[in-house]
Amino acid sequence: MIEFIQALAHDTGQILLKAYQKQSAGNLALRQSPKQLKLAEDKTIDQYIIQRIQQQFPSHGILTEESGLVHSSDSKYLWIVDPIDGSVNFSTHNPFFAISIALLIDGQLELGVVEAPLLGEQFVAQRGCGATVNGQPIHVSTTATLADTYLVTCDGGMTDRTQVFSTLIRNYYDQVKDIRKLGSAALECAWVAAGRADAYITMAIDPWDVAAGVLLVQEAGGTVTTFTGAAWTPVQSDLICSNGLLQSALSARLW
Ligand code: IPD
Ligand code: CA
Ligand code: CA
Repeated sequence: MIEFIQALAHDTGQILLKAYQKQSAGNLALRQSPKQLKLAEDKTIDQYIIQRIQQQFPSHGILTEESGLVHSSDSKYLWIVDPIDGSVNFSTHNPFFAISIALLIDGQLELGVVEAPLLGEQFVAQRGCGATVNGQPIHVSTTATLADTYLVTCDGGMTDRTQVFSTLIRNYYDQVKDIRKLGSAALECAWVAAGRADAYITMAIDPWDVAAGVLLVQEAGGTVTTFTGAAWTPVQSDLICSNGLLQSALSARLW
């Protein structure tokens, strides 16, 4: 399965890379709203990944951003897929986007891959086996104080939560080294896993955005909890992902 998921992410990345190179910036096939962008590639990549999984594992369940829950006859296995995480970046020729694929077995995250084709990076996590980027082990940072914290964030699935989001920024901005909104939740998790960011905070994030990223952070030695301190589950969640050392300081400043 690890070989399958890595090959699938790689192959999909190559297709997406070609699509990116063909497309001019801002040339959008479909547009819903600036923050709920849908591209033609979201659909085609979604279908490609579903078909590949179904060919290999016909009984497995698949949950994707574009297709929702695809019928399964074996509820033990659930693939969670975001065909393009960072569609707005993709559409504006910002290379910070990724394909996110995770596998849950009996409700537990077992495998996660975040493939960033333009960055030439594949992040992989396997439960109990650590996390890697392009085959090299990665670890969370050792930053221990808020003052030294490089925090990444995104607006998650919030619609009417602008007030909450601005409160979040206000609660942290003066306390940390800096805050970035990078535009891909999956890669923001991968950044924490690789020690390139110290923490990631988001609200109402959907499972396809972060399923692979949550395992990456955990396997790289970090901590992931909801705002109430609970473990992540594959539903919309408010999340703090950090190197672990910062988890309680970040939680304490939430509201
Ligand atoms: C989005 C990105 C973005 C986050 C949004 C997501 P999409 O995913 O991860 O960073 O703020 O909540 O929906 O729409 O590009 O797949
Ligand atoms: Ca997404
Ligand atoms: Ca998406």
